[in-house]
Amino acid sequence: MDTETKQPQELRIVAATVATQIETVMRADLEVALAGCDPLLIEVLQYSLFNGGKRIRPLLTVLCSRCCGRDDDALYLLATAFEYLHVATLMHDDVIDRAEQRRGQASVTARYGIAAAILAGDWLHARSMHLIGRLTGAEGLEIFCQATASMVNGEFEQLRYVGDTNTEERHYFAVIRQKTGNLIASTCAIGALFAGAEPAQQHALATYGDNIGAAFQVVDDLLDFLGDTGATGKKTGNDFIEGKITLPLLHALSRADTGTRQTIEALMRGDRTQPEAYAHLYALIDRLDGFNTAEQTARQLVDTALDALAIFSASDQEREHVALLKELACYILARKK
Ligand code: IPE
Ligand code: IPE
Ligand code: MG
Ligand code: MG
Repeated sequence: MDTETKQPQELRIVAATVATQIETVMRADLEVALAGCDPLLIEVLQYSLFNGGKRIRPLLTVLCSRCCGRDDDALYLLATAFEYLHVATLMHDDVIDRAEQRRGQASVTARYGIAAAILAGDWLHARSMHLIGRLTGAEGLEIFCQATASMVNGEFEQLRYVGDTNTEERHYFAVIRQKTGNLIASTCAIGALFAGAEPAQQHALATYGDNIGAAFQVVDDLLDFLGDTGATGKKTGNDFIEGKITLPLLHALSRADTGTRQTIEALMRGDRTQPEAYAHLYALIDRLDGFNTAEQTARQLVDTALDALAIFSASDQEREHVALLKELACYILARKK
């Protein structure tokens, strides 16, 4: 992978505009919702929300709703709900993964402690559900709650496979679809629902979201090895320390001879905080082409996502938004942060 983050000009402009709109809505919503709340809660939420996240989930909600013909003020509040939920999961995820860095600064758990990270995450989760229920009713809430419940199950399954070199690819994909893909799919499906899309469009956008969601996590797992901390804002090598068996490693294991497999197993069982152990594993994955083939898998997932958009016709007046969804899918593959 080269070091530049590729994002087409038009997508970059739309993404930046939507991100600014989301930040404006977040500030206004927090002012109302946090009135009279404890100053530390307010500080932790400000710290975690306004710090350079990519805002991809709210962008997806906005683009999917626009594809189906709706774009009004309420849409940005709905999109904000997804950023709230996402940031809630990041705060909790950093507790689980003992991650010290997030979005280029100390994680909430590192800076304010575990209690603050859990409680502020719960606040955001509750606010997010409140907004989704208010704006999309029982149907939207049902999609949202299923995605959240499956995220929790995915995290549990991930814990089950920690350090287990017998993990199969289907287990890995079950985990990433549940922990990441379903939430991303729900941002798309609820955006379509909000716009009153026909079931076929809703289904197509959910399929698109499901596949870019899985691709997003495959790329995140690649960046955990290959990324530049300055760009990702997260430390590399954390997945190895936590014993996560991600796709590059699974691909390497599938090609390893008996001796190499034993070496990898020993590295997974040993002291994973040692930089030499990480460097050794990295070199083995590279030699067995695990990074390149995992990237190819991400590409296939993005192709499946793009195929799902074929139901939107070229003559459609919303085609410019569909074109942006296609660009966003390609960006997810090429992203460096
Ligand atoms: C990180 O998501 C968590 C994953 C599901 C991999 P992002 O990479 O979208 O994080 P931010 O919002 O830009 O910080
Ligand atoms: C994130 O997975 C999934 C969530 C449910 C947040 P990771 O643990 O790989 O995400 P990062 O790398 O910490 O952002
Ligand atoms: Mg993590
Ligand atoms: Mg990660």
